[in-house]
This record gives sequence, structure tokens and C-alpha cells, in this order.
Amino acid sequence: MTADSVTALQPASKIRQASSDFFSDVIAGLSSDPRTLPCKYFYDERGASLFQKICELPEYYITRTEIDILDRNRAKIASQLGPNIELIGLGTGAGTKTRILIEALLKPAVYIPVDISEKQLRKSTALFHKIFPNLEVLPVCADYLQPVALPSPRRKAARNVVYFPGSTIGNFEPTEAMEFLRRIANVSGRSGGLLIGVDLRKDRQVLEAAYNDSAGVTARFNLNLLARINRDLGADFDLNHWRHRAAYNPSAGRIEMYLISEIDQLVHIAERKFHFRSGEKIITEFSYKYAPEDFAALAREAGFEFVRMWTDDARLFGVFYFVAG
Ligand code: AVI
Repeated sequence: MTADSVTALQPASKIRQASSDFFSDVIAGLSSDPRTLPCKYFYDERGASLFQKICELPEYYITRTEIDILDRNRAKIASQLGPNIELIGLGTGAGTKTRILIEALLKPAVYIPVDISEKQLRKSTALFHKIFPNLEVLPVCADYLQPVALPSPRRKAARNVVYFPGSTIGNFEPTEAMEFLRRIANVSGRSGGLLIGVDLRKDRQVLEAAYNDSAGVTARFNLNLLARINRDLGADFDLNHWRHRAAYNPSAGRIEMYLISEIDQLVHIAERKFHFRSGEKIITEFSYKYAPEDFAALAREAGFEFVRMWTDDARLFGVFYFVAG
């Protein structure tokens, strides 16, 4: 894979802004109708640590179910991916899932984790060097939604396999998701693969409990976005007058996360003023849930052929494998 081919990972419709654009993204989102804030800004240091806590909540089935699926099917997944692969992990974080996968892989050529958090990347790379001393690990600190130059491994691999766990694809609008997958298909090349975790459609109660947990961690995660705007952009959101809410929209097949103004209030962000009516909402995140056939159709449009899906007994979550056609 060359640096040029990797630039194809950049979504055509939406060039992701650098962190210096936080201000303009916030102003644009709060000036739009309906008002929005981009979910990519959840993950400052506190947000990332709250997200870790979410992953351990009893109601948030996603992380433990995906880990369980990988764990129970590791040998089958490894034989499907084949020997001597170049594994490219997008946003694989601490690497818990990747570790399970690599332990089962047949003589992988190289592992290239791509992560925006340098701290996380250093930690996971050190761990992987320790556990897999014979595996070449080439970390890349970058936002995988931006053009990323990937390094060349020492050993030539049989094929590239992109690994995108965690159902992060669910946080894209479906058309954006399709464009993103299309760029991955171009990057992974003709015989390249995509192993991707996708949250499946299910009962409203299960979904709403996962995003309105009883310990209030998701609420803190959502409200932290306002705290970040206060801190980084000198705004004066009063967090006591905002409330978290997550609701399932069955016709769109997505969880919608909001911050709701509890009173009529005026908020300043630098020179700008925003008036919020009591009950007015800011959309902070969509989390799409897919029927397996719908996700396979979306991936097909992006140039991927469905190979198989591993799931749990309750069919809560799917780990899909596709090859670029
Ligand atoms: C990162 N992403 C897959 C999470 C999700 O479930 O959509 C983010 C999240 N938001 C609230 N809880 C978790």
C-alpha cells in the first residue's frame, strides 16, 4: 500500500476538520436547524476515559458482546483471513480485540494500528511488542478519516485486511459510511479484506437502556462535550441546566443522542450568543443499528463482497468479513 493509495481513506463529502476547527464546527452546528454538535469532539481526555467506563457498563452490551464473538470464533476468523496478512487496525484503541485476533492469526506479516491518540498508541504498541515479539508492529498516529501515509512492512504480505471494530461505523450517516467503506475497498486492493464490527437492530428497550445507563455515565459523557466547549472555546454553558437524553428512532434505525436545555437560556461562545428555548435539543450523536442484510448491501455498494458474519446467540452484534471485489 502506498501513501497515495491511503489518501483514498479521506471521505469525499466531508473533509474532517483539524482540532483548530473545533470553534467553527461548534458555531456551524449550533447555528443549524436542528442544532447539532459533532460527536467526534466527545473524545478529549475525560471523554475517552468516560467512554472506557461506558464499555464496561452492564447495559452497554456492545463491547463485551463483540469481544465474546471474537473470542469464540477466533480460529474460524483467522482461517478466513488467511496466513501472512498485513493487518491495518483503524481506531483499535487499547487493542483488547486486536490482541485476541492476532493471537489466532496464522503468521501475520505486520500489524499497523492507526489511532489519533498518541498516548493510547504508545501504550498498545509497547504491549504488542511484548506479547508478540516476532510480529512487526508499525504504529501510525493519525486520524484515519484524514489522508494517512502507511509505512511499508519488512515482509511482503499476501493481502491487506482492514480491521474496524467497535461499531464506530454506526456513528456515520449511511451515505458517509458507504463512502468511507468505498475508500477502504480502494486501499485494501483487489483481494483485500475488511473485518468490521457492526451493532445490529434489536428491541428498543435494550438499545435505550444501553444509552441511558442507570449509573449516568453516558449522561456525563454527553455533557462533557459542553464542558469541553467551555474550557477550550471560553463558552459559558451552565451544565446544571442541560440534560442528556437518548432515544431510538425505529424508522431511521438509529439511537439519537441529545442535550436538552432545561430552561430558557443565553449561552456565549467568544463573541457569539446563542439563545436556547426551554426543551430545545442539540443533537450530539447518531448511532445506526443495521439488519445484517442491510449492512451487507451497503458494503456491496462500496465494492465489498460479503463473505460471512459471526454473531452471538441473541444476534445483538455482528462481526462481518468482506473482500474487495
Ligand atoms: C463509539 N461508538 C460506537 C459508540 C456508540 O455506541 O455509538 C459511542 C457511544 N455513545 C454513547 N455511548 C457510546
